[in-house]
Amino acid sequence: MTHFPVAIIGAGPAGLTLAHLLHLQGIESIVFEQRTRKEVEETVRAGILEQGTLNLMRETGVGARMEKEGDHDEAIDISINGERIRVPLTELTGHKVAIYPQHEYLKDFIAKRLEDGGELLFSTTVYAVEGFDGEQVTVVYTEADGSSTTITADYVIAADGSNSPYRKIITDGEGIRARHEYPYAWFGILVEAPKTQKELIYATHPEGFALISTRTDTVQRYYLQCDPNDTPEMWPDDRIWEQLHLRADSPGITVSEGKIFDKAVLRFRSAVTDPMQKGRLFLAGDAAHTVPPTGAKGLNLAVADVSVLAPGLARAIKNKNTTLLDEYTALAVPRVWKAQHFSYWMSSMLHTVPGEDHFATQRRFAELRSVLGSEAGQRYLAEQYVGRDLPRFEV
Ligand code: PHB
Repeated sequence: MTHFPVAIIGAGPAGLTLAHLLHLQGIESIVFEQRTRKEVEETVRAGILEQGTLNLMRETGVGARMEKEGDHDEAIDISINGERIRVPLTELTGHKVAIYPQHEYLKDFIAKRLEDGGELLFSTTVYAVEGFDGEQVTVVYTEADGSSTTITADYVIAADGSNSPYRKIITDGEGIRARHEYPYAWFGILVEAPKTQKELIYATHPEGFALISTRTDTVQRYYLQCDPNDTPEMWPDDRIWEQLHLRADSPGITVSEGKIFDKAVLRFRSAVTDPMQKGRLFLAGDAAHTVPPTGAKGLNLAVADVSVLAPGLARAIKNKNTTLLDEYTALAVPRVWKAQHFSYWMSSMLHTVPGEDHFATQRRFAELRSVLGSEAGQRYLAEQYVGRDLPRFEV
């Protein structure tokens, strides 16, 4: 039977980044992904990379395309009922962010993994994981051709997204799953249009939130706050443009229009799992925690998780020292809560709640104006937005 030091379930940001970081430590892994490579590389997701994530890409040899094609931004705009306020992120923090969609990040890591000769199996279903409380884990999987294989591993990492079935193994015991549901969602569209402006606009209006994001010179990404039960049929193009202009236009800025070629509703949820480990099983990324899309923290949190997990696993495997691995939850969870707080806080300042009255709307606007009207407030928001440095541990 084949043995791998580390088996990773899921080829998303957490799984692929982990496999790459382990490879740089000389540790081989096997990655299982249920979807096809094409599906993984084409699924539309959010797109902000924090400074720490950018640094990791550069330092580990996966940053070339991001450097060239990413939109490197030094500011965001926040528009309050048509009054636009600039937040100079770089001036306030020394850091930048890049707009580089998640699927582009994944393409780069998939290409690197394959170039490095890594085991990366698409269209593969893991259907049994056993022995994570013992000396060795057994993983049984089937590939697209129906053939079934069993391997053993020292450690197994569930990095298979928010519906991970492995989380139950932890939460059925002593573990906690804290959740929060929001009374709104985002309606996301992709449009063939020139950029409205280089930098993102987070806009709020008594009728709700809108986000003007970018993709390329000819394709843009816009979002409108909607009801969680809305369907794309409820958002004909006329309604989309009317609401985008109403919520996000401001003096000198008119949202650029074009052909809409993708419409989807994005749910808003927060969830935190604690602990993120049990025996030889570890959760990483969305398998452990979900954040709403407002700050685009999801991918960055996944990268932060594996920045602890990779050196932890490397020390355990190479030096037989499990102290860092034992500390994984204690190191990862406080960062998750801070990201939850920031995403929740930004969401609550920028979105209307159903039935919101004049008092509630004006109080929200006053909160935004208070934060943005002081340098300390702007710096606080900017620091959270660009994110903290990633955890760093020597092996
Ligand atoms: C996106 O471009 O998809 C995006 C940007 C910023 C966010 C969320 C999503 O806060």
